[in-house]
This record gives sequence, structure tokens and C-alpha cells, in this order.
Amino acid sequence: MNRSILVISPDRQLLDSVESMLVDQPGLRVDTRPARLTEMNGQAVKLATDYDMILFQTSGGDAAELKAAADLATGRRSGTMLVALADAGLSITDAHALTRAGIDQVLPVSILAEELPESVERLRQKRGGGDGGRPGRIVAVAPARGGVGATTVAVNLADQIIARTARGQNKPRVALLDLDLQFGTVGSYLDLPEQEILLRIAADGTIPDATFLRQSMAVLPSGLSVLAAPTKFAPLEALRSEQIAGLLDALTATHDYVVVDLPRALVSWIEPVVRRADEMMIVTDVAVSSVRHCRRLIDFFTADNIALPVQVVINHESKPFFASALHREAARVLERPLEHWLPHDPKAAHNAADRGQPLSAVAARSSLAKAIGRLASDTLTRFPAAIRTKEAH
Ligand SMILES: Nc1ncnc2c1ncn2[C@@H]1O[C@H](COP(=O)(O)OP(=O)(O)OP(=O)(O)O)[C@@H](O)[C@H]1O
Ligand SMILES: [Mg+2]
Repeated sequence: MNRSILVISPDRQLLDSVESMLVDQPGLRVDTRPARLTEMNGQAVKLATDYDMILFQTSGGDAAELKAAADLATGRRSGTMLVALADAGLSITDAHALTRAGIDQVLPVSILAEELPESVERLRQKRGGGDGGRPGRIVAVAPARGGVGATTVAVNLADQIIARTARGQNKPRVALLDLDLQFGTVGSYLDLPEQEILLRIAADGTIPDATFLRQSMAVLPSGLSVLAAPTKFAPLEALRSEQIAGLLDALTATHDYVVVDLPRALVSWIEPVVRRADEMMIVTDVAVSSVRHCRRLIDFFTADNIALPVQVVINHESKPFFASALHREAARVLERPLEHWLPHDPKAAHNAADRGQPLSAVAARSSLAKAIGRLASDTLTRFPAAIRTKEAH
């Protein structure tokens, strides 16, 4: 099937180089407009219905340009991918504003040559199969220190995204992926039989497809699909980036939300997760060492994906009425208000882990279950599931 791309930029050199990057792609039509988005006076919105992907250059910090981008996002045909090409001057705040306005991807111009062919490939896969809607959202969960509670958050967030979906709406299709290859505990937290899928993928070097995953993943009574980490030892570098990229693309083609439990080690195959993630959740406590590491992680993740929203989740502490000096210092170091707090609730946490069930099944009324439920509701508000008809299930 043919695809069409429109590139909007006042910079003719950039237009030429994008065209030359895509010239070898079969079945792809590339049109260009030498203008800024704001100069197109709404014409871009009309054009949005004609193209599968629109790339536009933006320098950020310009309210009119942001408004034009938001209009484009509102007016697009469902399935049209919108990509902002960011000048070097684009700040993280501007990049966030663009994604909040509905832009799918913000690509720094400096990495265009490496990234653009991959984005186009995703466009092909997205429109070629599945139900034709937008790919699922990826929420990656990373720990700021060992044992801080990242897996507890990942497991129960995935579970609660299903539970918290409003009545009358289709239950979202949610996948939980344990990429803590060596020490993953998702399987034991959910009392699943051993799954050696990741080990098999690592051993034979293949890129898993959606059919293989559907047949191999465990499905819980709630409908949550789970891919657990191997119970046998696997070297951390056993997986290649392309395999993780393929795994995520297959999962997002068939699920509305993919929650990923990340390992503590920043291995090379984390990169495709960071590039694709819609949101990163870092689970931490307010100890100075954890907060410092959390800061390093934020810098690491946003270096790879400048527009990536990062949510900091403080575990083992209820939201205080008054921020202590320690809390204020943490917010300062992290350059954001501390919004998400999960209480220390050992009874609920241990009960759930011992029984191999999500908190909703064994301690639904506990303060911890409710707090993770709120986290899931917030996620659903930030990333509403794609509108799907019942038949698409
Ligand atoms: N809010 C909480 N209150 C009390 N106990 C908790 C809380 N969150 C997690 N725990 C407990 O802390 C322990 C570690 O949690 P978890 O496995 O989720 O952490 P992790 O960050 O994934 O650790 P790892 O470094 O092993 O991957 C578990 O026993 C879990 O039940
Ligand atoms: Mg863990």
C-alpha cells in the first residue's frame, strides 16, 4: 500500500535532505512545502486529511507555532502521524508542550538521518496491520534504586489501567513486559508458570511478531497479557536493540497500553524503549542518594528522547500536608513538583506478593492499592485509549 508524507519547513536544504533520506523507500510519496507551519494559515489542517505523515520544522518558544501544531493535531485524520522536527534551540518544555498538543514524535534535526527511516517503518507497520488505529501507549517504569518498588508499581499499574477504565468503555488491551532480564520478578508477583520466551528470543536472535507473542504470553483473568522475564540466567547483553524494538512494535500494534518493567542496569537495548516510550515513570524514595540517581536517570532518558515526559513516583511515603526541607530539596534537584506518592504499606504489598496476585485481588481497599489506582487514572487521563469500536476487539 502506498504512503504519503508531507514535509513543511522554510529551510529548502532541510526539505531536500529529507527527500533524499526517503528516496529509496518503495511506495512512498514525499511532498514538500517551503513554509513555516504558521504561514500555512490552516491550510496544513486541510492537507492533514490527505497525508499519512506530516513532518514540520519547529523552533519552539513560539505560541503561534504551538497553536498551529495543536490545530493540526485536532484536525488530522485518525492515523495521520505528526512529527515535529526540532531545531537545536528547542527546549524540553517546548518539546513537552508539542506532545501535549497531540504531536506524536519530536525528532531533533541532528538525528533525523538515523531516526526518520525508523519512523517511516513504524508508519508502514501501523497502517499495514492491526486495527488501523494509533499504536498503543508505552509506559516504562524504572527504579531509582534496587528494591524501591518499581515492579510493584509496574504490575499494579498495568492491572489498574484495566480496572480503572470507566464503565461502558471497552476494556483496554494491556500488556505487561518484564525486561528485568536477570532479576525480573513480575512472573512470581503474578504466580505465573515459567516463561522462557525472552530467553528463546535471545538464543535464536529472532524478532518476535504479534502472532508469536499472542500465543506465548500469559493472560490473566482480568485480561492483562504478561511477558515475564526468564527464570534461568540470561546474560544482560543477550538481547539486541532491534529485538526489543520489534517486540515493542508488535505489542503496541495489538495493545492499547504496554507497561514495561525496566532493569536497573542501563544496557544498550534500553534505547529503543526510551525512544518509543510515551512516558517514563521513575520510582524512587526521597533519600538523597535515590533522588540524585533519579536526576541522572531523567537526564539519561531525556537525552535519548527530548520530549519524553517523566513522572517521578515517590514510594513508601504518603503525600505530606507540608513539604519538609528534604521534599523541597528533592523537588528542586528533580526540577519538578513531586506529584505522585505511594504510602508505605508493607501488609498489602507482602500479601499481594505472597499470594501471587495484584493488589486489586487481595487488598483492593488498602491505601497502596488506592494510590496506584490513582496513578493509573492519571495515566488514563494523560493518554486516553484510542477510540475503538467493539468489533475491533
Ligand atoms: N509501598 C510499599 N510499601 C511497603 N512495601 C512495599 C511497597 N512497595 C514495594 N514494597 C515491597 O518492597 C519489596 C521490593 O519491591 P519491588 O520488587 O516492587 O521493588 P523493585 O524496585 O522492583 O526491586 P528490584 O530491585 O528487585 O527489581 C517487595 O517486598 C514489595 O512487596
Ligand atoms: Mg523489580
